[in-house]
Amino acid sequence: MSTRIVTLPGDGIGPEIMEAGLRVLAAAAQQGGFEYSADEHPFGGAGIDACGSPYPEATRVAVHEADAVLLAAIGGPAWDDAPDRPEAGLLRMRQDLGLFANLRPTRVTAARAGRSPLRPEIVAGADFVIVRELTGGIYFGQPRRLGDDEAFDTMRYRRDEIERIARVAFETARTRRGRVTLVDKANVLASSKLWRRVVGEVAVEYPDVHQDAMYVDAAAMKLVSDPRRFDVILTENLFGDILSDEAAEITGSLGTIPSQSRGASGPAVYEPIHGSAPDIAGQGIADPISMIASVSLMLRGSVGRADVADRIDAAVDAAVSAGEITPDLGGTATTTEATDAIIRHLSTEFSKGAHDDQH
Ligand code: NAD
Ligand code: IPM
Ligand code: MN
Repeated sequence: MSTRIVTLPGDGIGPEIMEAGLRVLAAAAQQGGFEYSADEHPFGGAGIDACGSPYPEATRVAVHEADAVLLAAIGGPAWDDAPDRPEAGLLRMRQDLGLFANLRPTRVTAARAGRSPLRPEIVAGADFVIVRELTGGIYFGQPRRLGDDEAFDTMRYRRDEIERIARVAFETARTRRGRVTLVDKANVLASSKLWRRVVGEVAVEYPDVHQDAMYVDAAAMKLVSDPRRFDVILTENLFGDILSDEAAEITGSLGTIPSQSRGASGPAVYEPIHGSAPDIAGQGIADPISMIASVSLMLRGSVGRADVADRIDAAVDAAVSAGEITPDLGGTATTTEATDAIIRHLSTEFSKGAHDDQH
């Protein structure tokens, strides 16, 4: 079966890292023996420029018909004053596809420990995933209003929205080390109090999973003082947005972290957690790892080729160990050079596999 992939390169460094991801995907398909089609569409600022909308109708139709969506990044100063911003297009796509669950993995492999801004003895071996609720909370809650003298947003959650994301977290924990930490602000916020209650109820259905809870301020602190204590972090939309950038940075660079967004049915979206990085766009130095790791997550989650994903992850680690990395990780490679290195290591991984198969 051929997987139908819709690609949304977007803005800023988006097209630069999308090209890198697609080169790795092509190499992986050729050596791993799977078929796919990649169909590119305008989205974000590119959608505004091409069609007058950050989520053009033709793009909307295409993502609904896809098996998986690869998104790079959107946004930038050129569209910051647009009446309908690129970011609004992203939020609309998440809502439109019902992508309520956003999984953001953080792993400090041995190859990465020395690249972290934190001491290796604190971070080495840290391995957790943030399960972020993606279609509710203050991002979407009504009422909201921007006036001249007053403005407000509403952090609103329904029980069923909390239950379904909690189940994703507990199911994810079952495939990992069996621990869920709910991160909330239940000492202050009503919505967080409901989260504590509902997550506690769902936890009863998963007696094999250990569940605890932490206030978000303390969790922000623990992420840098003791990141190894976490396995699955379950949290609402805004806290998940903030904590995932913080978590990403402990691996050495935000530019290396992928994500999967999924709903109850329909295509999942795979994308780096970072934005369009206008400060480095056009310089050819964007880290391609976040996009390549997103391709790897897609092979696990939507193509059924975890074996190939393992090889891509190993190739990325090998390139990092060899110092074939972009400036964000402390190297001097360009995006193209770092991608070339990963593709070379991927071939090595496949030839190791072929060797293993013969014995
Ligand atoms: P950003 O994530 O784009 O960049 C933050 C910092 O990380 C910058 O210094 C940037 O250079 C660096 N960085 C990010 N990705 C990198 C990579 N692959 N390689 C090397 N360095 C990398 O955040 P920002 O600057 O606050 O936002 C820029 C724009 O992106 C805004 O319009 C914002 O709304 C948008 N945004 C989009 C997404 C998305 O597409 N999902 C996510 C976050 C922000
Ligand atoms: C992310 C981004 C988005 C978010 C923005 C661009 C709407 O920061 O994917 O983390 O806040 O969810
Ligand atoms: Mn974010």
